[in-house]
Amino acid sequence: MIEIRNAKTVGGRRIDVSIESDQKWVIQADAWTLFPALIDPHVHFRVPGASHKEDWTTGAKAAIAGGVTMVFDMPNNHPPCTTLERMEEKIGLIERELKTIPLRYGLYLGADRSSLKEIPRVKKKAIGLKIYMGSSTGGLLMDDRASLEEAFQLAAENDLLVAVHAEDEQLIQLHRKKYADRTDAATHSLVRNATVAAKAVELAIDLAKRHKAKLYIVHTSTREELSLIRQAKKEGISVFAEAAPHHLFLNESDYEWLGTKALVNPPLRTARDNEALWEAIDDETIDTVGTDHAPHTLEEKMQPYGKAPSGFPAIELYFPLLLNAAREGKLSLERIVSLTHTRPLEIFGLPSNDDVVLVDLEKQKTIDDTCLHTKVQWSPYAGRTVIGWPVMTIMKGHVYEVDKL
Ligand code: NCD
Ligand code: ZN
Ligand code: ZN
Repeated sequence: MIEIRNAKTVGGRRIDVSIESDQKWVIQADAWTLFPALIDPHVHFRVPGASHKEDWTTGAKAAIAGGVTMVFDMPNNHPPCTTLERMEEKIGLIERELKTIPLRYGLYLGADRSSLKEIPRVKKKAIGLKIYMGSSTGGLLMDDRASLEEAFQLAAENDLLVAVHAEDEQLIQLHRKKYADRTDAATHSLVRNATVAAKAVELAIDLAKRHKAKLYIVHTSTREELSLIRQAKKEGISVFAEAAPHHLFLNESDYEWLGTKALVNPPLRTARDNEALWEAIDDETIDTVGTDHAPHTLEEKMQPYGKAPSGFPAIELYFPLLLNAAREGKLSLERIVSLTHTRPLEIFGLPSNDDVVLVDLEKQKTIDDTCLHTKVQWSPYAGRTVIGWPVMTIMKGHVYEVDKL
């Protein structure tokens, strides 16, 4: 039995909690605040095919260090996870890697023209169908109208949530030509500008509305997308929105010092968009925070613009960043629980569990690449001093002390 004594709740009460376990632990938690463990609905743990960037052992460690005990992994692997057979193979690989350190997880099925017939086959196994409406890392792309109609139709019939990477591929290609002579990383925000995202979000909402599908828009990043989603919610369309930490905590001004390290899809936006996201967190247009934990090695990221891949790791830092933001008055602790735990459970229709995380709200630490657990050992947040860090994560009746991971 694990006994947590005198922990503070998010609401400020004091409680004792007992958790079923083979271990015997008494945790005197006077100085700590108890949160339900986080659920990260958007990670790329890179298995199979790119485990030099991350695998499930390093990914699980990074997750637990960040207070996360459940992740939903994206299908843009090599080969992509586009059939039931590939999903079963992927589960086999994951289970092997999770022997030493466990983690709860769900997997997305990747959509491409030939994989749509898999929807009825995987509907019990997959957490959702992931559609890349615009190209990102990996080869998955499904941008033709007929396939999109069919995908939304089949997903609705089979009660499978549709998650979209909403960027318009045609516009991206057009802008690539337009800015072909530019070589600086900031070009990325022009090529994949706000219209690129808004156009795809508009189409996705229309598809969800007509086919009565459940739509989950990952990494929303612009004021324009949020207006469309706000309106769709008002109309009663089943649409949910995710925000990624980099669109809350970074913006275009960071290209100057991060260079190609700052590349991500959708790209970093303006400070005005940061504000729009905080407003949308406040009025609940945004439902969840998903990290889009997308590690690439520093060597890969340091290549010239055009070659360097997009994405970066975040899973072990987003909770501290959110706690620090709460301290600055940007959101409440209750809202953090809703974004990182309650809404993911509700939207993905999952049962609750008794995983918790104990947090020291006064702990101050400067983010340093060398203390990270992600295999790639770097972060765009390095150098930031953040107040509020998880100290213990309790998953499936097992205590993980963050400092000892
Ligand atoms: C992701 C990756 O590297 O897998 N990259 C990114 O820039 N976000 C893919 C994705 O989520 O689009
Ligand atoms: Zn994406
Ligand atoms: Zn992603």
